[in-house]
Amino acid sequence: MSERERADDTESATAATSEKLVELAKRRGYFFQSSGAYGGVGGFYTFGPQGAALKGNVEDAWRDRFAVAEGNMEIDAPTIMPEPVFEASGHLDGFDDMLVECPECGESHRADHVVEDNTEYEDAESLPIPEVEEVIAEYELVCPNCGSGLAGQAVETFNLMFATNIGPGDSDPGYMRPETAQGIFVEFPRLKEYARNQLPFGVTQIGRAYRNEISPRRSIIRTREFTQAELEYFIDPETDEPDLSSVEDVEVTLYPASEQNAEDGGEIRTTIGEAVDEGIITSPWVAYFLGVAKPWYDAVGVDMDRFRFRQHLSGERAHYASDCWDAESEVDGNWIEMAGFAYRGDYDLSKHGEHSDDRFTIFKQYDEPKTVERATVDPDMSYLGPEFGGDAQAVVQKLEDLAARDRSAFDGDAVEIDLEGETHEIPVEKTGFAVEEQTEAGEHITPHVVEPSFGVDRLVYTVLHHAYREDEVADEERTYLELEPEVAPTFVGVFPLQNDDELESQANEIVADLREVGLSVTYDDSGNIGRRYRRQDEVGTPFCVTVDYETVEDEETTVTVRERDTTDQKRLPVDDLAETLSSIREGDLEFDEL
Ligand code: GLY
Repeated sequence: MSERERADDTESATAATSEKLVELAKRRGYFFQSSGAYGGVGGFYTFGPQGAALKGNVEDAWRDRFAVAEGNMEIDAPTIMPEPVFEASGHLDGFDDMLVECPECGESHRADHVVEDNTEYEDAESLPIPEVEEVIAEYELVCPNCGSGLAGQAVETFNLMFATNIGPGDSDPGYMRPETAQGIFVEFPRLKEYARNQLPFGVTQIGRAYRNEISPRRSIIRTREFTQAELEYFIDPETDEPDLSSVEDVEVTLYPASEQNAEDGGEIRTTIGEAVDEGIITSPWVAYFLGVAKPWYDAVGVDMDRFRFRQHLSGERAHYASDCWDAESEVDGNWIEMAGFAYRGDYDLSKHGEHSDDRFTIFKQYDEPKTVERATVDPDMSYLGPEFGGDAQAVVQKLEDLAARDRSAFDGDAVEIDLEGETHEIPVEKTGFAVEEQTEAGEHITPHVVEPSFGVDRLVYTVLHHAYREDEVADEERTYLELEPEVAPTFVGVFPLQNDDELESQANEIVADLREVGLSVTYDDSGNIGRRYRRQDEVGTPFCVTVDYETVEDEETTVTVRERDTTDQKRLPVDDLAETLSSIREGDLEFDEL
């Protein structure tokens, strides 16, 4: 019988508010602001014992689905990378937020957030800076900290990367990576070898990333150090296609850019297959990964009635993305981004190819060798050297590029090249220009990248928020987390009914048996049994096992097993307990089938 039935109080459980969740998270060891002994520091959180276990289980579930089940490789790259990486990636120049400083109290704010929080603008991030300044003035917006007017204050760009120095001195600047993705892109020349130079292939990474947010907020939703789980999937855009048949029937709620821009636009309920057929999702690869992600989010405990995919508006997209859809969850009436599914094209590999000495292409073999005409140059250096001095090699490069691009430029007696804004004429006879027939087995192509990028902390927050319940049991208010068994930090709590050597010894034996089959178990012998149940309910432990006098006195050794959500209890033989609970953990058995 369940405690809830006995109490005759089975009214539906109430949901969380962020305030309640954050309080529970701190009290029970899910997460809390770090360095509290020194006053705490904004945007940095520590996951306590429960939170670290939940986060680890979510990461394992992600790894199983996006690395193992998809046959992708996982790597683990450093979190600090040298400056040239971010010059190439565009983060040094383009990874900025809009900063406005209060003239009175000096507090810094994200200008787009000040606008969004106080006007009808929903996507101020996509507005140009002068327009944001105008909106601040027009609406007479004030400092959220002290209430002083912000009109007339300059809005500036603020680069979000944390800078550091590699080694002593400042000659070798480095940055904390703002996305784990760059650790994958820079290793592409080696990773493609591990993939035997065959496209498509995917590389995943789960690790920390860093963004020096102007105003971190909303607990672990916007922090300065966070965990990403990213997949970079490298494809040949001309020939590679995803297996859409495996996800075409997945039902999704979509909020495309066109609907966001329309006066009476709204969300669309459809399937992945239809969304591709109707051109709502243009990249079949992005559609494929949305189709993989939706059931995965469901399995780890995101409420599917509070989940959607929203397409980025054009001004909102990151500098590298040509299209992007976010997975969003609803929390306290707000939609929060949990993941981005971006089509990054050849942006990253091309940039690293241009900025480094390595080759960020892959050799694509033709079905049959092709005979092609190639225009080449073999310049006379005894002419170019005296003529151009230190610029002679740059001239050779210009001539090679021109021959490949426009061979008609070599039709006359002289060819023109532009060097640092000056035009120079070079006699064609000195360029060694020739057109030759060559047989080629293939060509070097720059793969395109599709990137599902998951924020782990935000997902953990959502999972906790969506799992939070309050109800009444035995005339007492109870708070519990309806976490999926796959991700719950502890799977089973084991209690001796009373402090009694025999009960404790039997309970300890059960703990050892359950741990031996790989279950996460906690042992608790303090306080009355009701309190122990409440403690486990509050951290979302799906089952509790109580060892009582029947256990030690009866011929068949049995224990009480209680299920968290219903509080139903059953007596089960100890001999089968580990196997039974393991089957439930694996999803092969339901508690109410017992
Ligand atoms: N790699 C995508 C992102 O960090 O947003």
